[in-house]
Amino acid sequence: MLVSAKEMLTNAKAGHYAVGAFNLNNMEWTKAVLKAAQEENAPVILQTSEGAGKYMCGFKTVADMVNDIMDTMKITVPVALHLDHGTYDGCYKCIEAGYSSIMFDGSALPIEENIAKTKELVAVCAEKGMSLEAEVGAIGGEEDGVVGMGECADPDECKKIADLGVTMLAAGIGNIHGVYPANWPGLRFDVLEAIKEKVGDMPLVLHGGSGIPDEMVKKAITLGVSKVNVNTECQLAFAKATREYVEAGKDQQGKGFDPRKLLAPGTQAITDMVKYKIEVFGSNGKA
Ligand code: 13P
Repeated sequence: MLVSAKEMLTNAKAGHYAVGAFNLNNMEWTKAVLKAAQEENAPVILQTSEGAGKYMCGFKTVADMVNDIMDTMKITVPVALHLDHGTYDGCYKCIEAGYSSIMFDGSALPIEENIAKTKELVAVCAEKGMSLEAEVGAIGGEEDGVVGMGECADPDECKKIADLGVTMLAAGIGNIHGVYPANWPGLRFDVLEAIKEKVGDMPLVLHGGSGIPDEMVKKAITLGVSKVNVNTECQLAFAKATREYVEAGKDQQGKGFDPRKLLAPGTQAITDMVKYKIEVFGSNGKA
């Protein structure tokens, strides 16, 4: 059964580790991430962007698939199914579809509108026993081929949103989605400390977890980060293993073209990557 992310993040914050939140892209991803979490005995968050939800034929398909795969695989670790960077409408669709957690990304809205909509969703989530992530200060990434350096959130705005009663808060600290440019200056620990100072016990979320050096991620965890999002590194691992399989001509040997064989190395590469990340985040053995 899916659970809210609240308890796992409260435990992570208190225990000075972070829960990995891994973006799903299809059934192979779902099986791979769940297998890794179970083998590591780690609580885990499976998340989909709205685009990935659409790709997988809608949020209900995703929720049903995750629930059914969990049953079949006899998953016993705590699992939350979360909407990543949700719009206002997307949040309501996921609530209806059976997600156990949502992110309302109002970071592009004027702060007063972000506050008003977040407040409304806090009440809805509380009633349904769901967790809610809010965002302050847009997390950068590639836009029209230009890779931004990542915005930094205003600690006072973080406090305003945290005080609304959200479960966890994503705050920009120079992190970006996707591959980091070679001249990226690193995470702004000064900003993270200032945010932590203002929001107290609120679990913080580090987006763009792919490609940040492990030591930097570990330091961020000591400063209050309790959820780390990873997408790109799993995609890269999947693509690399699949390419190696094809380049070795294995799809042309025997029944190597069978999708169950063709996708197996990539799927295993996702499991390996997720296990590695779980160990870096310190959530192994914490289920
Ligand atoms: P990466 O793709 O950079 O790992 O970012 C994932 C993320 O933050 C999803 O919200």
